[in-house]
Amino acid sequence: MKTQLLFFCSCIEFLLCLFASRLYAQPDQVTEPRLTGLKTEYLSSPMGIDHPHPRFTWRLESLGSGDAQASYLFRLDPDSLAVDEGRKGLRFEATGRDPNHLITYTGEPLQAFTRYYWQVQVTMGDGRTITSDVASFEMGMLQVSDWKGAWISDVQDVNLRAAGQFRKEIRVSKKIRSARAYIAAAGLYELAINGHRIGDHRLDPMYTRFDRRILYVTYDVTTHLKAGNNALGVMLGNGWYNHQSTAVWNFHQAPWRARPAFCMDLRITYEDGTVETITTGKDWKTATGPVVFNSIYTAEHYDARLEQPGWTAPDFDETGWKPVLLRSAPTSNIRAQVLHPVRSVREIDAVRMQQMADTLYVYDFGQNMSGVTALTARGEAGTVIRLRHGEQLYPDGRVDLSNIDVHYRPVDDSDPFQTDVFVLSGRGEETFMPRFNYKGFQYVEVSSDRPVHLTAASLKAHFMHSHVPIAGRIRSSNPTLDKIWQATNQAYLSNLFGYPTDCPQREKNGWTGDAHIAVETGLYSFDAITIYEKWLADHRDEQQPNGVLPSIIPTGGWGYEWGNGPDWTSTIAIIPWNIYLFYGDPRLLEDCYDNIRRYVDYIDHRYPSGLTSWGLGDWVPVKSKSPVELTSTAYYYADVVILSKAARLLGRNADQRRYEALATKIREAFNAKYFDPASKLYGTGLQTEMSVPLYWGLVPDEHRQAVADGLSRRVQADGLQLDVGLLGTKAILNALSDHGHADLAYHLAARETYPSWGWWIVNGATTLYENWDIHAQSDLSRNHIMFGEIGAWLYKGLGGIKPDEVAPGFENIRLEPNFPQGLEVFEAEHLGPRGWIRSSWQRSDRGIQYTVVVPANSGATLRLPASVAGKQVLDAGGRLLVASEAIRIGSGTHTFFISF
Ligand code: BGC
Repeated sequence: MKTQLLFFCSCIEFLLCLFASRLYAQPDQVTEPRLTGLKTEYLSSPMGIDHPHPRFTWRLESLGSGDAQASYLFRLDPDSLAVDEGRKGLRFEATGRDPNHLITYTGEPLQAFTRYYWQVQVTMGDGRTITSDVASFEMGMLQVSDWKGAWISDVQDVNLRAAGQFRKEIRVSKKIRSARAYIAAAGLYELAINGHRIGDHRLDPMYTRFDRRILYVTYDVTTHLKAGNNALGVMLGNGWYNHQSTAVWNFHQAPWRARPAFCMDLRITYEDGTVETITTGKDWKTATGPVVFNSIYTAEHYDARLEQPGWTAPDFDETGWKPVLLRSAPTSNIRAQVLHPVRSVREIDAVRMQQMADTLYVYDFGQNMSGVTALTARGEAGTVIRLRHGEQLYPDGRVDLSNIDVHYRPVDDSDPFQTDVFVLSGRGEETFMPRFNYKGFQYVEVSSDRPVHLTAASLKAHFMHSHVPIAGRIRSSNPTLDKIWQATNQAYLSNLFGYPTDCPQREKNGWTGDAHIAVETGLYSFDAITIYEKWLADHRDEQQPNGVLPSIIPTGGWGYEWGNGPDWTSTIAIIPWNIYLFYGDPRLLEDCYDNIRRYVDYIDHRYPSGLTSWGLGDWVPVKSKSPVELTSTAYYYADVVILSKAARLLGRNADQRRYEALATKIREAFNAKYFDPASKLYGTGLQTEMSVPLYWGLVPDEHRQAVADGLSRRVQADGLQLDVGLLGTKAILNALSDHGHADLAYHLAARETYPSWGWWIVNGATTLYENWDIHAQSDLSRNHIMFGEIGAWLYKGLGGIKPDEVAPGFENIRLEPNFPQGLEVFEAEHLGPRGWIRSSWQRSDRGIQYTVVVPANSGATLRLPASVAGKQVLDAGGRLLVASEAIRIGSGTHTFFISF
């Protein structure tokens, strides 16, 4: 009777909650279905793309339950009206009878320099028709023969420190309809027209292996040109192309190294239909200017006395400017930069400023970040101001770089690490912000060779990173957990600069291992596909004929000898596979298929037993070190499994059979060597030894639960604390929460004492660190993404939002939430390709209310955790469900009540 009464009360409470949740509709909720998020190559209205078969995506936004498109009609044409009106004879039309959200263009070749329009019309299951707005994109240069200009530079000398400036004046005598600037640079550039900087990108073009592929950027400059005289100005920076700073990875010896160069076509279409292309060539002039030194790795030095006001504006006196140097093209492979660019995304004020002398100030921005600072000061001409950027302070309050300058090998003191040098012109108030560098920092020490008066507002920080859209949110009743998620995002973004890096200060290297560990974390919270597609093209450029990849990508040559085993360079398989899971788009997997196969074949050839000890192992562990062979073989196995699945997907049947057999061989060899069926232990039973085989699927099914239980016992024996490094961190929380040990996983995730993520947070971290020990003597970057899997685990292990490889792109969502003890409220949201997915729960002493939102065109398979087995589960219609069975749900909002 008592139980029945309790259950009755719970139901009333549940219905009240349900009523309340209906009252408080989310702002992003829509009542009428509509088509949104129209993208071409995953960008909104991109300009200057060059893929012959672009992809188009859309979202059907609707709150109606079970809403799905039954079919779609896609139209594309250079005439927007024709698209909108659905006229006959359109350039391309395609229809599909499915709830797809992605279509690939398969028509006749698209033309260079042409704008195309497209629209999608969807017919819903109930017969309603919904039409999208008309979206557009523009093709750029499609091949090298589309270019007309010449590659130009200023001098040959790679050691010349000052940045080159280039200018040319042109006359416009007819009315302009449209104008586009196409610019490719070996190094970095900033473009200005008539005194105005073009665009808001920073550090363009993104870093590639310059001798194999260089990216060009397209701008609409129609409104920047005027009738009469116009001036074009370009400043070139070294970037990774002409690396003058010296560090252990030998970028200064990169085979491509040369003085920066660029090629630009300014293509003007006049109202009368004629086209004129202004190009780079011998008629440009060059001179150096105020950027007297620039290094992507260390800093920038700026002498404002050398400014030449007006050099990017017309009617400038060019006296003293020299003819440019014609250069050979650094490569013939010039591709469009099709990605979210690096921007200065947020300007941040100092939270504290301490004046230590009239020549010494220390600023604290309250958070660690990647980017630059902008100093505004006034003082005597020739005053030298130094801005030293770092992540920590000495006890006396000065900035301490000792944790991040360890791999720097300066040859003299003219290039101090993370230290900009600004020489004042003396012309009133002046501002300096570097153009061709970024740093990692929270603190900045500003010192000068004579007194300058600065205030807290004199220095602003600019958080810079690849400006990828937000695609996820986590909120919970545990503030430490929320801060861990925020710090994970801050570290992820601080390490996204057109390629994923390890840290923004000490290295800025595209460390492969760090990136595949963090790929899910990135994809749950950010729409980062464009960055990964670009970076996997970098992988293809770097792969040796024998299949080997370097440990850092791109590289100037370093990394083929060290650190490039499968535990790191499995990026080649793991990243395309995750892109497929998250976006439901097989393009990257297809593009990388042969590369994955060559990579796997190399390991197979070199390690015929199926076991490989090639790799670095469980990097920066808490204390115990697991065998490298165990972890590397697990990654090798993961690659072969991905390859066999890709083979199946792409219809390569012989390959599928071959790699399935290879996977079986590796798994058997692995278990024969490392698994003891009697004790159910892998190796000596260390946390990494137990969790890595579980996570990567090497454990025989019949032993999985026993191994997971053994892992749980091990964690308890280790004092309920982590004992893992990089590779173990990827696996452990998932291995526990996927096997009924979510309470323990949550305990590890939310723990606030050493060693844990929470330990960093309670000690003031705003980013993730490289070392569990915050007092470590080495390996202590304070903005590292390598321990970042926790970000993804919050979505997976608590929210339970998981992609389904059978219906990827969240067409089917595997909903597998956990409700660990100690956490009262939790909410995870992810914007998948089909819309926002929400999984949230709230605990009361009567039970748990669990609410999910499944977007239109999707469905979900809900599996409640074993911890609620035997409990009463009620859906919104008051139906009793069986907690242990998979529950199929369609699109819409669903609420369940689990009573205790
Ligand atoms: C990097 C790491 C990287 C490691 C490889 C370090 O210097 O910062 O994040 O994965 O080297 O050994």
